[in-house]
Amino acid sequence: MSVTASPPAVGSFCLHRSHRGTARVRMAVRSNAVSVAPILTKLQKDCATPLPVLRHVADAMAADMRGGLAVDGGSDLKMILSYVNSLPSGNEKGLFYALDLGGTNFRVLRVQLGGKDERVIDTEFEQVSIPQELMFGTSEELFDFIASGLAKFAQKEGGKFHLPRGRKREIGFTFSFPVKQTSIDSGILMKWTKGFAVSGTAGKDVVACLNEAMERQKLDMRVSALVNDTVGTLAGARYWDDDVMVAVILGTGTNACYVEQVDAIPKLQGPKSLSGRTIINTEWGAFSKGLPLTEFDRDMDAASINLGEQIFEKTISGMYLGEIARRVLLKLAEAGALFGEAVPEKLTTPFILRTPDLCAMQQDNSNDMKAVESILYDVAGVESNLSARKIVIEVCDTIVKRGGRLAGAGIVGILQKMEDDAKGIVFGKRTVVAMDGGLYEHYPQYRRYLQDAVTELLGLEISKNVVIEHSKDGSGIGAALLAAANSQYEHDF
Ligand code: BGC
Repeated sequence: MSVTASPPAVGSFCLHRSHRGTARVRMAVRSNAVSVAPILTKLQKDCATPLPVLRHVADAMAADMRGGLAVDGGSDLKMILSYVNSLPSGNEKGLFYALDLGGTNFRVLRVQLGGKDERVIDTEFEQVSIPQELMFGTSEELFDFIASGLAKFAQKEGGKFHLPRGRKREIGFTFSFPVKQTSIDSGILMKWTKGFAVSGTAGKDVVACLNEAMERQKLDMRVSALVNDTVGTLAGARYWDDDVMVAVILGTGTNACYVEQVDAIPKLQGPKSLSGRTIINTEWGAFSKGLPLTEFDRDMDAASINLGEQIFEKTISGMYLGEIARRVLLKLAEAGALFGEAVPEKLTTPFILRTPDLCAMQQDNSNDMKAVESILYDVAGVESNLSARKIVIEVCDTIVKRGGRLAGAGIVGILQKMEDDAKGIVFGKRTVVAMDGGLYEHYPQYRRYLQDAVTELLGLEISKNVVIEHSKDGSGIGAALLAAANSQYEHDF
C-alpha cells in the first residue's frame, strides 16, 4: 500500500505505528450509546453547501466588501488600504530583502533583481519555525527573535548578491495579520489572529517594533514596504502575469486581496493614486454571514482565544479543519461508541488532530485503509476497525468539502463585486486568481472542492476565463519587489 505523506510545509508525520501498546482510555462510552449514523447525518446536513448557500455567501461577501469600502467599520470586512498603488513592472533592479512573519514559520529572503531581461538573477531564503512560547510572549521577545534571524541571514550575503556602495539594505516586510496601514511603510496592528497572543503589539506600528529590534541587533536595514501576505502574493504573481487581479492565501489562516478602482472606495480621503487603482486587503477571515455552521464550530469558537472573531477563517482554514474534525470524532466516540467501549484520552486534547493528518488520511485509497488506521493511532491514540475508519474519512471529507466550497464562494464574491462595478473587467477576459498557502498547495481534495464551487457559481463559460492558479512563494519575492518600487534611492523602473 502506498500513501502520499504530506510535504513538510503542512507538517509531516510517521506513517508506521511505533508500538501498539494499550491506548490510554479516558472514560467508558455511555451505556445507552446511540448509533453514529444520526450524528453523521446531522453533521452532513449542517455542513451542506448547495448552490443557493454558496450564492448567498458570495453575495454577502460582495455586500460586505462594499460596506467596508464605504467607511471603516462598515462591515465585518476591514477592506484595508494597502498603499500599494502600482504593481511590479518587471523592470525592478538591485538587491532587496524580504521578511515574512505570518504563521508558524518566519522566513527571510534576498533577491537580486535584474530588470526586464534578467528578471530574478538569484534568490536565497531561510525559514525558521517560531517557538511556541514566542507566540504568547512579549512584543520585544518576538521582534528580537525576528531581527536576530534577519541579522544572521544578512551576514551570509555573497555570491551574486550585490549592494551598491553607500546604500542601506532595503526590506519588504510581510506581516500577515490585520494591520491598519498608515503608509506603504508603516501600520498599526489591529489584533493578532491564528493563535498568536503576543502582548504589547496591538495598537503599535509594527515597523517601529521591527526597527527598534534591528537597532538592538545593530542591524542597519530599512523597511521600505510593509505588506500583507496576500498583497505580497499578488505583487509576486503579477510580476510574471499581467492578468492577476486577486490573491488568496489558504494556509494556517486565510485572506484575500484584489485590485480595486480608487473611485470605488468612498472612504479613501486625500490624494488618489495616479494609476487610478490600488490593492485592497479584504481581511476576509473576519467574514461571518450566512455560513453553514455546526455545534462543533460554535464550541471551538467558544474555546478559542478570539471568541466570535475570524469565523470564516475558523470554517475554512488550515489551523482549524483538523480541530473541527477532532471534535466531531470525540462526539462520535463518546455518544456513538465509534471506537468501541472506550474513549481514547488523546482524542480529548484540543488541536491534537491537525489538518495535514486529515489530508494524509484522505490520500489512503487502499481497501483496508491501513494508513488511516496508523494515523488515527499515532496521532489520536485511537484503535479503529475498517468501518470506523470509513466514518472517519466521511467526517474529514464533510469538513474539508465545506471549507473548500466556501472558499470558492468567497472568491466568486470578490470577482462578482469587481465585475458589477465595471462590466467585462474580470469575466470578459482572462483573469487570474493567485493562490498560496499550505492548505491550498497540499490538499488535493480541498483544491478540487474549491474549483467545483467556483465553476458551479460562475457557470462553465465564464469560469473558463477565471484561472485559479497556485503561485508558490510569490509573497516573498512580491514583498521584495514592493520594497524595490518604494526604494528611497533613485531608480528608473
Ligand atoms: C490574517 C491575515 C492573513 C491571513 C493569511 C489571517 O489570520 O488576519 O492578515 O493574510 O491570516 O496568512
